[in-house]
Amino acid sequence: MKVISTEHSQVLATRVARALDVKLVDVKYSRFPDGEHYLQTGELDDETIIIGSVTDNDALVQLLLLIDACSESRCHLVIPYMAYARQDKQFKKGEPLSARAVARALGSGVCDVTTVNIHDPTVLQHFSVPARNISIAKDIGSYLQALDLKNPLILAPDDGALKFAEGVASVGGWEFDYLEKTRISGNEVLMAPKQLCAASRSVVIVDDIISTGGTIATASGMLYHQDAQEVFAACVHGVFTEGAYGKLISKRIRDVICSDTIERACSRVSAADRIAHAMKNPRAP
Ligand code: R5P
Repeated sequence: MKVISTEHSQVLATRVARALDVKLVDVKYSRFPDGEHYLQTGELDDETIIIGSVTDNDALVQLLLLIDACSESRCHLVIPYMAYARQDKQFKKGEPLSARAVARALGSGVCDVTTVNIHDPTVLQHFSVPARNISIAKDIGSYLQALDLKNPLILAPDDGALKFAEGVASVGGWEFDYLEKTRISGNEVLMAPKQLCAASRSVVIVDDIISTGGTIATASGMLYHQDAQEVFAACVHGVFTEGAYGKLISKRIRDVICSDTIERACSRVSAADRIAHAMKNPRAP
């Protein structure tokens, strides 16, 4: 077995290969003069783990080409971050179910698919091959534990992320809750922990994705207003559009932590061990 990756997941793929003690396939990437992608793989094995985060449209095309180039091997596809997964419903007539379109394209040519904290696991049903989702909530919890925060409060920005917050909090036996929105007036919304009090506490807001950072910026402003001592933000997928990272730091967030499902300078948590474990245990959920 060997591991191969797109350019977008090369650090994570190296970590997974090391954790599995298997070789990494060298890949030559380039572009044609018109911008089309080209790639050529080194020697493959009978079985291949393909790792490629879909961070944008180019990453999607490169991953499709890589899957095709590996078609003589038995391929297990790992999609650490899957863009388009948030469009998982047809909200308006005439819209695509984008998550389904991407899943259909990526699922053909591989034997199975593993995602990491996909926005909504219902997306897995759109792959034409067995697909499962793994969570790195506990790895984020372990990172926070090393920070030695005193009695932190782990907060999900909404009830949809509560299970994720619970997974993070379980590592230290910390309290967890979610932020509830209450409409005060036509243009005023209050966000506060549903049951617990943030005053004088280190609060860590945890979410699957930070994109524009809008959700976390609003939440942290409210929490400081409620006398939180300090606010941290941690997520799996640091998308960070529109200068989100800098925006959050400028809004007094002590630190912004993400994983290497999208490779960033602030990727302090690695999904590699969970992915390697999943690859060794094909039937594990
Ligand atoms: C939404 O349901 C997701 O879980 C995140 O809360 C959302 O994608 C964050 O987006 P933003 O950073 O743009 O507020």
